[in-house]
Amino acid sequence: MRIVVLTGAGMSAESGVMTFRGNGGLWENHRIEEVATPEAFAWNPELVLRFYNQRRAQLNQVAPNAGHLALAKLEKEHEVRIITQNVDDLHERAGSTQVLHLHGKLREVRSVRNPEMVLPWTGDLNLGDTGPDGAQLRPNIVWFGEPVPAIDEAVEITRTADHFLIIGTSLQVYPAASLYRYIEPGIPCTYIDPSPNRDGLDARVRVIAKSAGEGVPEWITSLSVQSR
Ligand code: APR
Repeated sequence: MRIVVLTGAGMSAESGVMTFRGNGGLWENHRIEEVATPEAFAWNPELVLRFYNQRRAQLNQVAPNAGHLALAKLEKEHEVRIITQNVDDLHERAGSTQVLHLHGKLREVRSVRNPEMVLPWTGDLNLGDTGPDGAQLRPNIVWFGEPVPAIDEAVEITRTADHFLIIGTSLQVYPAASLYRYIEPGIPCTYIDPSPNRDGLDARVRVIAKSAGEGVPEWITSLSVQSR
C-alpha cells in the first residue's frame, strides 16, 4: 500500500520544536511576518539570519520522537511518501527515506540571486557569506508570499495515495492545506492532531484528536489489524 503523509509543525512538537500558531500567534517570540517574509529579510536581514541561525542550532538539541520513528518503521511494510511543511530534518534522522520538503530546509542555504543555487549549511549564516555566484546567501526557506516550487510534485504524489494521512498541522497555510483534496475518490484520509482544525474539513476525513507521538503508533497498529 502507498501511504502519503502530510506533516506540519505538530509532528515535531514532542521533540521540543515549537509550533507556529500555538503561542498567541508568536513563533519563538516573533511575529511570523517579522522573520518569515522576503520583506523582513530586505528590511532587517540581521534579525532574520539570527532567527534562522537559532532554529538551525536548535536542530542539534532535538531528536525524532515516537511519531517520526513510527513513520520510518512503516517503510518496512508499505511505501511511505512524506510531504512535510517542516524545515527540520527529523523525518530523515528517524530513517524515513522519501521526504519532500514543501517549505525548504533549515540545513540548506541558497543564493539570493539564483534560487537554484542551493548549498548544504550546518553552522551560522551571516551577512557577507556568499555563494559561488558571489551573491549573498539566505536560508533555503519558502517564506510567506513566495512560490512553493515543490507543490506540483506534492500534488502528483498525493494523487497516487492509497491512504492519505495528515499529522500536526493547523491546515491554515496554502497550498499545503488543500493537498488532501487531490486524493482520488474513495481513498481514506486520516488527520491526527490534538487540536484539529475542523473548519472546512471534508466529511470523509477521519479525525484522531491525539498527539503525533501517541496517535501515529496507534493508527499504524489499527492499520495492521485491518490488513490481517
Ligand atoms: N502532535 C501533533 N500535533 C500537534 C502537537 C502534537 N504533539 N502539538 C500541537 N499540534 C498541532 C496543533 O494542534 C496545530 O494544529 O500542530 C498544529 C501546528 O499548527 P501550526 O503551528 O499552524 O503549524 P503548521 O500547520 O505546520 O504551519 C504551516 O506555516 O508558518 C508557516 O511555513 C510555516 O510550515 C509552516 C506553515
